[in-house]
Order: sequence, then structure tokens, then C-alpha cells
Amino acid sequence: MTTVVTYGTFDLFHIGHVRLLKRLRDLGDRLVVGLSSDEFNSVKGKNVIIPYEDRREILLSCRYVDDVFQENSWEQKRDDLQRENASIFAMGDDWIGKFDDLQDVVKVVYLPRTQDVSTTELKTVISEIQNEKIRQIQSLASHLSRLIEKL
Ligand code: CTP
Repeated sequence: MTTVVTYGTFDLFHIGHVRLLKRLRDLGDRLVVGLSSDEFNSVKGKNVIIPYEDRREILLSCRYVDDVFQENSWEQKRDDLQRENASIFAMGDDWIGKFDDLQDVVKVVYLPRTQDVSTTELKTVISEIQNEKIRQIQSLASHLSRLIEKL
């Protein structure tokens, strides 16, 4: 049984996440995800939109994911890898070289990211839509106030 462990936030679950999880699962027989808690995301400087319990439920409903545990700190990885009896630790290549120190306990693998999609980009698109709506409401409000002045 080859167990693969990965970590991440997986906020606003998208196609880059799906493709990574599929390729990770193909590396072994069991894929376990260390999912960053909302508090740990704040430590990492990430503001999550989807809360932990929902992100966990989404991951567990993905056919490539066998189990999920909570990630609360940078330091817990060695204990997690031992507990899960992991053979492979794998991440997207935005993390290349960052976890090479774990090579004494597992095989460390970095997989290429899917191009042109990320949670950050989705957040930008959502906030642009919101800003456009605010501009429309402001313009409607000023139109109405001019109309009222004329009455
Ligand atoms: N990932 C990927 N391809 C993408 C986006 C993410 O392979 N287009 C991988 C990352 O390399 C990581 C995992 O998915 O191993 C979880 O990444 P996460 O940081 O949760 O997603 P991002 O979309 O990269 O989020 P952000 O923009 O907030 O960094």
C-alpha cells in the first residue's frame, strides 16, 4: 500500500485542484490531504472564503481523495507522515525545493501546476464583479438624486 500525502488550502475548489489530486492519487494507492485550518490560513496570510468544514466535505467528495486531516502548523509534517505511514509527499511545483528536508523519511515529489487558474485569480474575478455592481448602484443612486433635485 503506497500512501501519498499532500497539503493545501483548496479554497474555491477548481480544475487545477482536481487535476493535481488525480495525478497525486495516480502516484499510489491512497491519497491523504492535510487541509489547512482557517486559523492556519490566517497565519499563512490567506483569507479563506469557504470555511474548513465545507472545504473538507468538498475534498472528501472527490473520488481521488481517501482521507483528510487538519493542518495547523508548519512543523507537524514529520509526525503526520509517520502516522499515515506515507511513502510519498507531493505538492504542486509552486513549492519546489521547499520540503526537500523530508527526503529522509519519504520520497518528495513536485508536480507541475495547471496553468492559468488559481484561487487568487478567482478571488480577483469575484471582487471585480462586486466592484462593477457597486459602480452600477452608485451611478443609479446619483441619477436618482439628480431626478429628486429636479422635482
Ligand atoms: N495547484 C495546481 N494547479 C493550480 C492551482 C493549484 O496544481 N492551478 C496545486 C498547488 O500547487 C497545491 C494545491 O493545488 O499543491 C493546493 O493549492 P492551493 O494553494 O490551495 O490553491 P491555489 O489555487 O494555488 O491557491 P492560491 O491562489 O490561494 O495560492
